[in-house]
Amino acid sequence: MSELIDDFDRRIKYVRISVTDRCDFRCVYCMSEEMTFLPRDQVLSIEELSLVARAFTELGVEKIRLTGGEPLVRRNIDELVNNIGALEGLRDFTMTTNGAQLRRYASSLRQSGMQRLNISLDSLNPERFKELTRTGNLEKVIDGIRAAKEAGFERIKLNAVILKGRNDDEILDLVDFARDEEIDISFIEEMPLGNVSEHSREETFCSSDEVRSIIETRYPLLHSTENSGGPSRYYRMADSHSRIGFISPHSHNFCDSCNRVRVTCEGRLLLCLGNEHSTDLREVIRQNPGEIEPLKQKIRDSMSLKPHRHHFTTDGDVQIVRFMNMTGG
Ligand code: 5AD
Ligand code: SF4
Repeated sequence: MSELIDDFDRRIKYVRISVTDRCDFRCVYCMSEEMTFLPRDQVLSIEELSLVARAFTELGVEKIRLTGGEPLVRRNIDELVNNIGALEGLRDFTMTTNGAQLRRYASSLRQSGMQRLNISLDSLNPERFKELTRTGNLEKVIDGIRAAKEAGFERIKLNAVILKGRNDDEILDLVDFARDEEIDISFIEEMPLGNVSEHSREETFCSSDEVRSIIETRYPLLHSTENSGGPSRYYRMADSHSRIGFISPHSHNFCDSCNRVRVTCEGRLLLCLGNEHSTDLREVIRQNPGEIEPLKQKIRDSMSLKPHRHHFTTDGDVQIVRFMNMTGG
């Protein structure tokens, strides 16, 4: 039973923890070409991150996702994954990764108790993949996906951000790839996080409804009742085990059942992705090194800050100044 209940009677069972703001890619919707990353002492150490994860599970959180930046560029990520994998009460342990380092890490992640992986993949065309990620190599990511399959993860899901005029012509190819590999795929609407100058978000915005109607020209989609308590809706196809998800952060429909919070790599607890409501956990951790009770109390006290709903706009009026790599998707 989660001890974490907010003022709207929502129980927090899911925490996403960003372990670094750094990444080996520079995806056009996530980062600017020249990024300044945080000085290392501002980022939580592996010990501090482990303490945060333990505090949340002791408060009744059952699901932890590690994100970044790119979690696999964090030094000693293995140690953190090992610590978290051993926590009691954790039912679901996952990571969001760009896949580029999975050949090296997949089997150790799996052995530490991680069950699922989300791997970002926006294009199957090598040149275009390079354009969208600026520094990424498609072949390495595809090989990473294969390594994850070989390591025996319970579920692997691809995440594709669709931008009009950039990769919206690859929607069916991406679905076919997921079907062939027998993995799941989710399509994500671009969120207005951080000021990216590379493209105009107003022009590239592609709604989940548009993506869905393109898929339905080839594969009729059957509703699935699964609900992650988040902005995803899931569908199945009659002739495949692959599931198709749509992540529509612009929709407000899911706020009432929101069961999640986020921790940034600096130890800021964010109560809602679309709002700036937050508390500083790092301060409590560094004032009471290695002590879990003050941290747990601070987390309990923060629940009243969780706002009722989020507010995103697509009209270029960027309200949220954080870049995605600070909060990890
Ligand atoms: N909008 C939507 N998704 C984003 N991601 C990164 N930045 C954005 C954005 N502005 C996604 C990546 C990856 C996950 C970490 O978040 O594609 O799947
Ligand atoms: Fe890196 Fe993911 Fe951001 Fe791309 S979306 S730059 S892979 S953190």
